[in-house]
This record gives sequence, C-alpha cells and structure tokens, in this order.
Amino acid sequence: MRITDETGKLFYVGGVVRDELLGRESFDVDIVFEGNAIEHCSKFGEVVRVNPDFGTVRVNVEGVEIDFASTRSETYPRAGHLPVVDKIGCSLKEDVLRRDFTVNALAKSVKTGEIVDYSGGLNDIRAGLLRVLHDGSFIDDPTRIIRALKFSVRFGFVLEENTRRLQEEYLANINYDTCYKRIKKEIMETFNLNSQEAFERFYDEGIYKLVSPVAIERPEVNVPEIVAAVGVQVPWMVYVGGMDLSRLELTKQEQRVLNDFETLKNTPLDDDFEIYKAFDGTAPETLALYAVWAERRPVERYLQIKDIKISITGDDLLSLGIKPSKQYAEIFDAVLKEKLKNPLMSKDEEVRFLLTL
Ligand code: CTP
Repeated sequence: MRITDETGKLFYVGGVVRDELLGRESFDVDIVFEGNAIEHCSKFGEVVRVNPDFGTVRVNVEGVEIDFASTRSETYPRAGHLPVVDKIGCSLKEDVLRRDFTVNALAKSVKTGEIVDYSGGLNDIRAGLLRVLHDGSFIDDPTRIIRALKFSVRFGFVLEENTRRLQEEYLANINYDTCYKRIKKEIMETFNLNSQEAFERFYDEGIYKLVSPVAIERPEVNVPEIVAAVGVQVPWMVYVGGMDLSRLELTKQEQRVLNDFETLKNTPLDDDFEIYKAFDGTAPETLALYAVWAERRPVERYLQIKDIKISITGDDLLSLGIKPSKQYAEIFDAVLKEKLKNPLMSKDEEVRFLLTL
C-alpha cells in the first residue's frame, strides 16, 4: 500500500509510531490529516465508510482498508464516559495532546518521515516510561489505568512517578459512574496477554477496584502455568473471574463459565470419582477458574484421570439381558468408579465386575 502526501499534513499517529520506534509489529495503522480528512483523503481510493461526527473516513487503498481521521480535539463533559468531539480539523498538537500517554502521542509525517513530539514521548520511549499528558487524565478516562498496565506488561515499561501517584489517588477515590464496556475491553486485552506480572499488579496495586469495590485477595498461584496445563485459549476470565464482574455486561457464554464455577464450588470433590463426575464436560475456562480461585489440586488430578473411559456400552448391557432403564447410568458409574481405581481394566474385566453388582 502506498500513500503519498504533498501537503505535509498527513501523519501516522499513536500506536503505529510507538511500535515502529520500539521495533515491534503494529496491528492497526492510524493516520490523521491535519484538517478535514473526509474532504482530503477520500481521493486515495474507494471510500468504504464515512463518519462525519468524528471526521473519519475508511478508504480502500490498493486493496488495504485504511482509516483516516481528521485532527480533533475532545472534552469530557461527564468524567469516565466517552468524550465528545469539540472541534474537527484542529491543530495536530491539540489532537495528540488529548491522548493517554506521551508514548502514544507521537506523530510521524507521511511526507518527510519526521517524528513530531509535543510531549516528550521520544524520551519516554527511550527511558521506558508511561507518563500521562495531564493530571486529570485518569479522572477523564479511568480505562487508562488498565491501559497503563497493558502497555507496561507488553513493553516492559514502568509508570513515571507522578503518573503512579495519580493512579494511586484515583484508585483511592473511584468514580463508579463510568463506561464499563471500555473497561471490559481493556481488561480483556490486558489479560489475554496471559501475564503473571499483570495478574499480580492488578490485585496488588488495587487496580481491580475499578471493576468492583469488594476487597479481594490475590491467590498465590501461577496463572499462565494453569492456563497452559488446562489448555485455555482466551484466558482473560481466568484472571478476573474470582471477583464480582456484574458491572462488565458479560455475554451469556461468559456468564455460564462463572455460574458453572459457582456450582463447582459447592460440589464435593473428595475422591477421583467425584472429581471426574464434577469436571467432565466442563469448559477449560471454568476448570482454570477453579484452579486459580478455589483449589488447584482437584483440577490437577482431573487432568491426570480425564482420559480414563469405560469400554462397556448400552449394547453390552442389553446383550447381558439388562433392560434399558435408569439402572444403566448407575451401572456405568459403578464401573467407572472401579476403573478409576484400576485404569488398566479390560472390557472383559469391566463386564465381570458389573456382574458382581
Ligand atoms: N487513546 C487514548 N485513550 C484511550 C484509548 C486510546 O488516548 N482510552 C489514544 C491513544 O493515543 C492510542 C490511540 O488512541 O494510541 C488509539 O487507541 P488504541 O488503538 O486502543 O491504542 P494503540 O496504542 O493503537 O494500542 P494497540 O497497540 O493495543 O492497538
């Protein structure tokens, strides 16, 4: 994809500039035009979508869809909620200074390749520091506290001293009238990094209080180890499912994982048979949740015994002259119980055993 610019008003901004400086791959490319992007950038290719309220336009440039944004300034009339656009076509400086951290407030000229740095972002990238652009940043948008954790884990950066103090101040005085959809998005992105450091810091620094004021103690477990052992693909819920998530607007499937976990907490798991019956068919997320937030041992035991299966079937029982009834389930359970004690049992041995019942 090739974009040429003669105006000098087209800039790469945000994550893509930061990631290039860090030598990392970037997943999306944000481009702003200092002025009205809809008027200026629609000529780069076929226009896919226009959003006049935000001054953005999506254009298909040689087969690649690119979002062009107009420079815009924003204000937060209601702290913790989405900002409103103040002015479309403001200066580049105003546009970058409304952002979250200095390292995300860098721009790069498409025409000259020159980096534009209004906030000391280059120095902070070199020093590995996350620094907010003004003292009210977390009050305007508390999701930035979770974003700081995400970036810090992703890049190995630390919070600059004043930013850390502002985080502590905010966490001591949280506004629960906020947009939890955005909080949820950041929680998902942070914990899908599957990082023990993020787990420890989320609870130890009290960041979890953004989601629920109920005090919670972090379990002393290694979560990535459990996630790997159980085989969870998308692990964010394993990291936060021990706390009250009612503010996060969970999907039905997410809620089911939590409900199943609650049920398991009240299920006896005193021997192999009880463990097998309780965990059989349970989603990996629920298993891992149990291991992290309730008890690790029964889950580890389940992973050792889960592949033990009985060989006899309903047809076998029928050919032994046993009529189909709910007795079948009792027989299968009795044989399974025996097989868990003696996993090498052959099918003949299973049949011999069931005839003793
Ligand atoms: N931004 C912000 N405050 C937020 C979210 C985003 O100021 N709560 C700004 C940042 O400047 C960020 C840009 O909007 O760079 C784009 O947001 P997003 O795509 O979430 O951030 P990226 O930095 O691109 O992160 P990622 O690499 O995870 O895509």
